[in-house]
Amino acid sequence: MHSFHELLEQFEIFFSKHKFPDSPATLYEPCSYLLHMGGKRVRPVLCLMGHELFTPLNDNSWNTATAVELFHNFTLMHDDIMDNAPLRRGVTTVHEKYNLATGILSGDVMSIYAYQHLNKVDTSYIHAVMALFNQTAIQICEGQQLDMDFEKRDIVSLEEYLEMIRLKTSVLLGTSIKLGAMLGGATEGCSEILSQFGNSLGMAFQLRDDYLDTFGDTNKTGKQIGGDILANKKTYLLAKAFEIVDVNQKIVLQELLKRNDQEKIQDIIAFFNSIQLKNYIEEEIENYSKKAYFFLEKTPVISSRKKNLLEVTDMLLHREK
Ligand code: IPE
Ligand code: IPE
Ligand code: MG
Ligand code: MG
Ligand code: MG
Repeated sequence: MHSFHELLEQFEIFFSKHKFPDSPATLYEPCSYLLHMGGKRVRPVLCLMGHELFTPLNDNSWNTATAVELFHNFTLMHDDIMDNAPLRRGVTTVHEKYNLATGILSGDVMSIYAYQHLNKVDTSYIHAVMALFNQTAIQICEGQQLDMDFEKRDIVSLEEYLEMIRLKTSVLLGTSIKLGAMLGGATEGCSEILSQFGNSLGMAFQLRDDYLDTFGDTNKTGKQIGGDILANKKTYLLAKAFEIVDVNQKIVLQELLKRNDQEKIQDIIAFFNSIQLKNYIEEEIENYSKKAYFFLEKTPVISSRKKNLLEVTDMLLHREK
């Protein structure tokens, strides 16, 4: 069993062996630019940890971890276009540094390379792996579309919000660990419990992402603070705000949301602070982390083998980046 940091180090070595062709550089250079600007590598490490619970790492798990990280980076490249985001991992986003068409096509090709790695998995597993991967990819598209549809709506309920983030974010964390477990020889029942663990962790992960978008530090997140507010995103903060405000506060909030000036972000943050929204989102993160711990506890593997997953859960819930 290896710790998060040990697996991260090993993954980076394996991942750096993945090279895009040199030409056309205009297609591949933006891929390498995004991939090698860092990234926490949470999903591939979860995949490796899921595998290591049952059996030592092998090419199946390395290739699947690589596929998952490539696919994640593809979603980020396109997400930044959809969200009109200027900054990612502390540098200019691909579509802004190059151009829109590059952001689209370099993203596309990265997703195809993800499948190329997946296709290296042993034939005895390939159908099950592909089916789960595809189902997850479809769910991410559904979640991303809901995320954009919600920008156009005034109010989104917490229930709708939670379903949207389940699709756009949490299923990929669940699937990452489940794929590792399946390839490690876990039973269907066991890999499904681990998937539930990953899904709950993923919910907490996206809630923390929403938190950091508003209350974080751009030097740590590498993203623009207040980007969600500018894009009229229906984050947990906004959905919860509408649930708890009184009639007068609701009018104030609706007026704030209509604004388009420089101070919009800081004024909305001040409003959020005035209704103690940080406490609510922290509580929700805590709820999902408890769910994650519950599923981890339920996983029929001796507890000493699950220590590193416990460690990752703690780390992700308190992350600043
Ligand atoms: C960002 O994912 C997109 C979300 C689903 C919140 P990460 O926070 O894992 O991004 P990197 O890979 O570490 O940059
Ligand atoms: C992104 O959610 C989810 C996917 C990329 C599928 P966000 O839009 O909140 O992610 P960031 O904050 O840009 O990383
Ligand atoms: Mg985004
Ligand atoms: Mg987005
Ligand atoms: Mg975000």
